[in-house]
Amino acid sequence: MTTKASPRHILVTSALYYANGPLHLGHILETIQSDIWVRFQKHQGHHCIHVCGSDAHGTPIMLEAEKQGLSPEQLVGKINTEHKNDFAAFLIDFDNFYTTHSPENQTLTELVYSRLYAKGDIVARNITQSYDPVKNMFLPDRYVKGECPKCGAKDQYGDSCEVCGATYSPTELKNPISVVSGVPPIEKDSEHYFFKLENYAELLKTWTHQGHLQPQITNKLNEWFDAGLRQWDISRDGPYFGFAIPNTENKYFYVWLDAPIGYMASFKNYCERHQDVSFDAYWGKNSTYELYHFIGKDIVYFHALFWPAMLAGSDFRTPSAIFAHGFLTVNGQKMSKSRGTFITARNYLDHLAPEYLRYYLAAKLNDGIDDLDLNLEDFITRVNADLIGKFVNIASRCAGFITKNFQGKLSGTLYNEALYQRFVEASSQIRDDFNSRQYHRAIRDIMGLADLANQFIDENKPWELVKNPENAEKVQQVCTMGLNLFRILSIQLKAVLPQVVTNVESFLNVPAFKWEDISAPLLNHTINPYQPLMQRIDPLQVKSLLEKGKVSMTEASPEQPVEKTEKKASDIAPVITYDDFAKVDLRIAKIVNAEHVEGADKLLKLTLNIGEEDRQVFAGIKSAYQPEDLIGKLTVMVANLAPRQMRFGLSEGMVLAAGPGGKDLWILEPHQGAQPGMKVK
Ligand code: 2FM
Ligand code: ZN
Repeated sequence: MTTKASPRHILVTSALYYANGPLHLGHILETIQSDIWVRFQKHQGHHCIHVCGSDAHGTPIMLEAEKQGLSPEQLVGKINTEHKNDFAAFLIDFDNFYTTHSPENQTLTELVYSRLYAKGDIVARNITQSYDPVKNMFLPDRYVKGECPKCGAKDQYGDSCEVCGATYSPTELKNPISVVSGVPPIEKDSEHYFFKLENYAELLKTWTHQGHLQPQITNKLNEWFDAGLRQWDISRDGPYFGFAIPNTENKYFYVWLDAPIGYMASFKNYCERHQDVSFDAYWGKNSTYELYHFIGKDIVYFHALFWPAMLAGSDFRTPSAIFAHGFLTVNGQKMSKSRGTFITARNYLDHLAPEYLRYYLAAKLNDGIDDLDLNLEDFITRVNADLIGKFVNIASRCAGFITKNFQGKLSGTLYNEALYQRFVEASSQIRDDFNSRQYHRAIRDIMGLADLANQFIDENKPWELVKNPENAEKVQQVCTMGLNLFRILSIQLKAVLPQVVTNVESFLNVPAFKWEDISAPLLNHTINPYQPLMQRIDPLQVKSLLEKGKVSMTEASPEQPVEKTEKKASDIAPVITYDDFAKVDLRIAKIVNAEHVEGADKLLKLTLNIGEEDRQVFAGIKSAYQPEDLIGKLTVMVANLAPRQMRFGLSEGMVLAAGPGGKDLWILEPHQGAQPGMKVK
């Protein structure tokens, strides 16, 4: 079937995820793609190592830690564990999951920097930046908001306008404020260090046209080359969570400098525990081993320009290839919190098995960078039809006869040798498609074979044959044939469905499959009784997943991961003016009714009387109050808040409550002499 090539040595990385929020299905898309590829390579007998970890540094993580009352190290440790657990639950089998805040990374970052410095690739100069005079810190672009200098739109970030699309620097915003403290920033000078990317222009122009990149990415890079390569600012002033730049005062390496070096550091850490694996063999300048980075298309600039230049400049090898992928959409649109389609990894896992998603995404993934849609109706239909209706159905149709009539023993010959050979021959193309990341083609072909296997069983009808004892041998042969076809499909699907296929191995009573097992059938062998391998998806599971997504976003609004780099801190409340405050209509309200809301973890439904009228308000105070204790009490409400349609009904205002949360949450209780409807001054 295949000629056996000598094993390859391959190092694979998935992007290092920011350690300041939960993983969502966009992250899982990437790691499912890389995990399938790595499992497939291992399955082929190659040495393939997959490393990943947390991207620990930068302003957002520093501020998020502060907000949570943790040190950045504590926050990173906590999120690192959460991410690791989520990945494990999705059967993503990293060989090492580390962090960029590690001694290995510090050493390597200093090494890379010192080599670039020695080559004259680092230059220092003063720049002017926005500075928060209260917080005493320089502000990344996204931490300054104000009016767009072009169109005047309010509340725009310091780098670009979401209304007119203009790009600018934060110092150009009109009426700017710091998102961190709410005060207007001042402008301040500071010395920064720049990497002279232009020194690598020729190298990069060659490297980017040598087949290391997908064609769409090369085209994008050509545009960047035409625009001219700009020097890259690789330093930040303290306070900053990162590595201090040697021989400087209060200067730190920018998070994006040490992030990709984190790939090396994670691998180095792996080598410390695997003495037989040589760091230099993989990263040395003349390495003949393969190095692949799986990334989202939004971070190509860092990986296809800065990173090869940094590596070449510091005498390390450059990547064999960058494998970029598109974004995940849900039901054809960007993931949305209000529609409940911003699906966190944990929410998915609470409702559905990981292999459904692994299969569905594999059935759609290719080697390009187009976005990929998780259409939830199609997801249910496809998983149920393909995996349960076609794939495991083959085993469940054949196994019972073998167990019941032949004590689990398979026949000594195949009923249809030609059909078996057809499956074997199809495997070469399937193998090539997995190798070239055309998973969708591999899955299409595997399901085509599953149709043939089911057709074979339909034509031979073992359930009819078994009625006549004279057909016993034929029944055994037909079912043995069916199970052998099922075995081939299982081997082909092993990288996609690792847990299910491990269960198939137990059912067939065989050691872990290897790809080459495809060529030899399983005969004269005793199998174990069949246990159901997969359950159908119940559409209610998906409904509940979406509802849970909506509820957790509207009630709790947990901090969401920053998508790219130094981004939003929109959850930090800006300072409002006196005029803003004067617009709030606060009224004494009497709680005339309070009740639980079915399906809501945190909400109570209140009926509030404010004199002339009653208002319905959903308040997130269930953790602190029993409804019956509230009835008859007075409280204070915001009476002129625009009504908001929630999943449970219309909410027509807001009750004022304060406290850290949980049981410690108190509504304001005015003196009993107050009258409902009174204005609060
Ligand atoms: O965009 C991101 O989510 C970054 N944390 C990815 C870093 S990848 C590598 F460079 F570490
Ligand atoms: Zn604008």
